[in-house]
Amino acid sequence: MGYFRDNIEQMKGYEPGFQPPADLLRKCETAGAGLVKLNTNENPYPPTPAVLKAISEIKTEQLRRYPDPMGNVFREAAAKINGVEPDWIMVCNGGDELLSMAFTAFCDKKRPVAYPVPTYSLYPVLAQIQGCKALEVPFDEEFNLPSKLARTKAALTIVCNPNAPSGTVIETEELAELAAEIKGVLLIDEAYVDFAEQNCTELVKQFDNVIILRSLSKGYSLAGLRFGYAIAKPGLIEGLLKVKDSYNADTIAITAATAAISDQDYFKQTIEKVKAERKRLSEQLRAMGFTLPDSSSNFVFAEPPSATRSTGSTSSPQACSGRASRAKSIFDKLVQRNIYVRYWDLPGIENKLRISVGTKEQNDTLLSALKEIVSA
Ligand SMILES: Cc1ncc(COP(=O)(O)O)c(C=O)c1O
Repeated sequence: MGYFRDNIEQMKGYEPGFQPPADLLRKCETAGAGLVKLNTNENPYPPTPAVLKAISEIKTEQLRRYPDPMGNVFREAAAKINGVEPDWIMVCNGGDELLSMAFTAFCDKKRPVAYPVPTYSLYPVLAQIQGCKALEVPFDEEFNLPSKLARTKAALTIVCNPNAPSGTVIETEELAELAAEIKGVLLIDEAYVDFAEQNCTELVKQFDNVIILRSLSKGYSLAGLRFGYAIAKPGLIEGLLKVKDSYNADTIAITAATAAISDQDYFKQTIEKVKAERKRLSEQLRAMGFTLPDSSSNFVFAEPPSATRSTGSTSSPQACSGRASRAKSIFDKLVQRNIYVRYWDLPGIENKLRISVGTKEQNDTLLSALKEIVSA
């Protein structure tokens, strides 16, 4: 018998996006050429200065003691912003921890998870770890909510909204219909919702089976902190708390996250800057011949100009025929210029680049490199 459970032995594990090692960053700086990192959907702007100020004011006594297991100061601040009571909020060590907790709490061999695909690639990994079946229901070409999703009988249904990697959004009314139709829990992954025009907080009030995931990594520029939260009715929160690590969010994270969400003016300004750059980036990519759906996130999902669309000969709705490695070749040429994006060449998402929205300067660097590469 091996050391690991069979499903762990057989699985590959989640591969996080590339994070440049310190020596590469140093080399780029010495050469006077900054590294342009647009591959993991970080916010290109810094968090509010209130975050560092709050961290610097932490007393050593606060570090000697365990943190508040519930992160109550954060719960209160988040409750006010979302128009719910504090006991509708649960703090998490990043949104990913909430996903992991949801699989532990709701899924097992007889209790499958369901979600539309393509989507966040962590969901199947968590299903493998938990040893539950993953019922993957394909999106159509426009990333509309597949009607079949309501009929899977899954214990946990996840909809990533806005979706990753497409950046597309599903209307709240459609998700309300889904919540009403299914018997299990609907987890709406709103990691990117700060960049969208609407969110689903109202659904938590209308339905007993809805959980909303929020992250401070994207809209609040705190990917390095690891902080997210759940919004749900107290019945679901109480159940989730049973599988939570006692001290999942540390004192520094609770303090910094509370400072970040309390500065809504700064947050809104940052979001508007990202949205303005997203518009410019999308327009310029389209002018170069890229095709991309309208994004409600802080990234765009683009197909390079020379790819030819499938006429339906493949089984996958998003499939493209022809030069499926065009995105990969562009990706490689960008890496040579120290510009990092992500590319996809998987069944259903062939020949696509996912580009995080950067600062104006970063986007300009990317766009002029792409102009050269595409016209070569
Ligand atoms: C769709 C989606 N959900 C959840 C997360 C988790 O975010 P975090 O754990 O950084 O809060 C991510 C991170 O990239 C994501 O892309």
